[in-house]
Amino acid sequence: MSAPGENLRINSARLWDSLMEMAKIGPGVAGGCNRQTLTDDDATGRALFQEWCEDAGLSMGVDQMGTMFMTRPGEDPDALPVYVGSHLDTQPTGGKYDGVLGVLGALEVVRTLNDLGIKTRHPIVVTNWTNEEGARFAPAMLASGVFAGAIPLDYAYGRTDMEGASFGAELERIGWKGEEEVGARKMHAYFELHIEQGPILEAKEKTIGVVTHCQGLWWLEFTLTGKEAHTGSTPMPMRVNAGLAMARIFEMVQEVAMAAQPNAVGGVGQVKFAPNSRNVLPGKVVFTVDIRSPDQAKLDGMRAEIEKRAAVICEELGVGCAVEPVGHFDPVTFAPELVGRVRKAAETLGYSHLDIISGAGHDACWAAKVAPATMVMCPCVGGLSHNEAEEISPEWAAAGTDVLLHAVLETAEIVG
Ligand code: GLV
Ligand code: MN
Ligand code: MN
Repeated sequence: MSAPGENLRINSARLWDSLMEMAKIGPGVAGGCNRQTLTDDDATGRALFQEWCEDAGLSMGVDQMGTMFMTRPGEDPDALPVYVGSHLDTQPTGGKYDGVLGVLGALEVVRTLNDLGIKTRHPIVVTNWTNEEGARFAPAMLASGVFAGAIPLDYAYGRTDMEGASFGAELERIGWKGEEEVGARKMHAYFELHIEQGPILEAKEKTIGVVTHCQGLWWLEFTLTGKEAHTGSTPMPMRVNAGLAMARIFEMVQEVAMAAQPNAVGGVGQVKFAPNSRNVLPGKVVFTVDIRSPDQAKLDGMRAEIEKRAAVICEELGVGCAVEPVGHFDPVTFAPELVGRVRKAAETLGYSHLDIISGAGHDACWAAKVAPATMVMCPCVGGLSHNEAEEISPEWAAAGTDVLLHAVLETAEIVG
C-alpha cells in the first residue's frame, strides 16, 4: 500500500460546477434551494446524481428507505466498503451546500481516483441518505436512523408531513423505494464532509474542522389543547388559551437553555395553530422544542426540566398538555483512528485545522452506531446555514474535499 502524496488534490472547478448544477434543481426564492425530501424536485435531483455516478462507473443500490448507494469496486473481494456521503434534501429555505457538499464531494473523490487510475483495496460507496433534514418528516436523519437500527422501518413509513402525506406513500410516489433491506450493508468505515453551519472555523481563520464529537438532541412535540372561542367577546377570565401557554413555554425553553450554558441550546422552529384564524383563540397548538448539548446529563436534565415546567404552565391556564419525543440521539464520539486520519490529511495538505464538536445533527451520527465514523468540516460565511443565503468559497469546498480524499484513501488503501 502506498500513501497518497501531498500533491494529490481533487478537481475544484468540477466540484463547484456540480454544486451549482444541483442547486438549479428545486431553486429557492432567495438564491438558495427548496428541494425537500420526497418531492418531485428531490426525484429530479436524485436522477441527476444517478446519471453523474453512472458516468463515473459507479453501480447503484437503493434500499427500502430510498437511500442511494453508488459503488466503486475495490480490488479485494473480501474487503468491506468505505462509505462516504451525506444528503441532497434541503430545508424549505435551505442553502446550496448543506448536505450537498458531502454527497458531491464524495463523488468528486471518486472522479479524481478515476482520473488518476488509482485503485483501492476496499470498495468506495458514495451515499445519498434520504430525509436528513427532518423538515418535512420528523425526525431528522430518518433513513440513517433506520439503517442503524435505532428507528423501526414501519415507524419511518408512517411519519406524516403537515398536509398528512406519509413518508412511505411519498417514497413510492416519487419512485425511489428500493428493494434492499435497510441496514443489511456492512461498513468498513463512514466519512462525511459537511459545512460547519456555525461561526467557529471562520472566526478562528481555520480551513478544516476535525470533528471529534457531535452534540445529542431531543425533539419534543407538544400538543396543547385549549378552547376555541371568539377573541372579541370572550372575557379574559373565561379563556382557555393554548396560544398563551405556548408563549410561556417558549420563554421557559429559553430560560432553561440559558441556565444550562455553556454547551447547550434550545428553541422552537415549527408551530401549527388551529384553526389559525385572526379572531379565534386557538383550540390546539402543536410545536416542536429542539434542545441540544454534547453533555448527556445536561441534555437529559434540560428535557426533564422543560417537561416539568410546561406541565405547571399548562395547569395554571387550564390547558391540556401532551408531549411526544419525535427525534433523539445521544451525543456522539467519533472514531479516534479516523479522526486522526482527517487531522493528518489536513496537515499533509497544509490546511490550517481545528478540532470541533458538530452543533448540527448528521447521518454520520447514526453511521457511528454501526461502524467507525467521522466527519470533515469546512467553514461557511458568517456561520449561516438553514438559510438561503448560506455561502462558502470554492477554495473552502476544495480544501474540505481534498482532506476527504486523503482520509478516505488512507482507509480504503491504495493498491499497486
Ligand atoms: C439537521 O440538519 C439538524 O441538525 O437538525
Ligand atoms: Mn446537513
Ligand atoms: Mn440541514
